[in-house]
Amino acid sequence: PESLLEERFEATIARKDRIEPRDWMPEAYRRTLVRQVAQHAHSEIIGMQPEGAWIGRAPSLRRKAILLAKVQDEAGHGLYLYSAAETLGVSRDELTELLISGRQKYSSIFNYPTLSYADVGTIGWLVDGAAICNQVPLCRTSFGPYGRAMIRICKEESFHQRQGYELLLTMMRGTAEQRAMVQESVDRFWWPSLMMFGPPDDASPNTARSMAWGVKTHTNDELRQRFVDMTVPQADALGVTLPDPDLAWNEERGSYDFGQPDWDELWAVVAGDGPCNAQRVAHRTRAWSEGAWVREAALAYAARESAGHEA
Ligand code: 3HC
Repeated sequence: PESLLEERFEATIARKDRIEPRDWMPEAYRRTLVRQVAQHAHSEIIGMQPEGAWIGRAPSLRRKAILLAKVQDEAGHGLYLYSAAETLGVSRDELTELLISGRQKYSSIFNYPTLSYADVGTIGWLVDGAAICNQVPLCRTSFGPYGRAMIRICKEESFHQRQGYELLLTMMRGTAEQRAMVQESVDRFWWPSLMMFGPPDDASPNTARSMAWGVKTHTNDELRQRFVDMTVPQADALGVTLPDPDLAWNEERGSYDFGQPDWDELWAVVAGDGPCNAQRVAHRTRAWSEGAWVREAALAYAARESAGHEA
């Protein structure tokens, strides 16, 4: 009976064990996982665009090779996550159609333009830094395939963050013009990086249930605070100032107090009205249709292969 299956599901969650694809799960659990894992996968793939724009304009072969490796890693992260979503009974084709039609989202951060080369470093330092704060806890998410994908992704993410920080450190030791370029980039990306963690907990419709089911192990605000506490000392070491006049160490909390992001901006970007939403989806749509012949050829070949084996 379903009640026994439900009890077993709850017991597995309570002892912080993994729910595997073959296990019974509430339909709402499956649906919220499809929602989050698909959006996470879409974020990795769309995230290739802002950085990819600088591969052809990297200032040295070394920087180009590092950036190429990072963008390729993001594609791989997307594939791990689409594979995890497929264990929940949704296909990559379906999810891509949902993304292209605007019915599924991706991280707001990728709807901001990369206007200068310093943005490549800032994305590595702040965006991948925020992604690490969000993804390390997800290694212990209750759904097995998602957590295992996270373990692999987090190993590669730390390289992404370190290469970005090293790039900025090099520029900060350069000319006054390079230092100004870094500061201008950080000014543009600081607040959107804080918004990556989602709305405040009291404005987050999914957090309570995601915490109860062990999909999330920390709330949006907890992870945002962890990111700020980790990043402020790094900004000091870099010699850049973070564009938040309310940022101040709070001795009794043992954390930094900081200002509130513009939540109306987050909701507008989530709703599709960010600076680059249309461009990002159009680019993805073009790549999807231009790649159709490759997918068809691969499927035709696979069909002939399996028919050949049966004959
Ligand atoms: N961007 C886009 N949508 C967002 C968002 C953001 N920054 N923050 C919130 N939202 C959406 C949510 O998806 C939800 O809408 P939905 O119900 O239609 O899906 C709504 O706004 C309300 O937000 P909630 O806080 O209730 O939603 P969640 O509980 O899902 O929390 C989240 C949002 C923290 C982003 C969570 O979904 C999450 O942890 N996702 C996995 C991590 C992820 O997607 N990271 C992407 C980072 S970029 C990246 O990884 C690439 C890096 O390698 C460069």
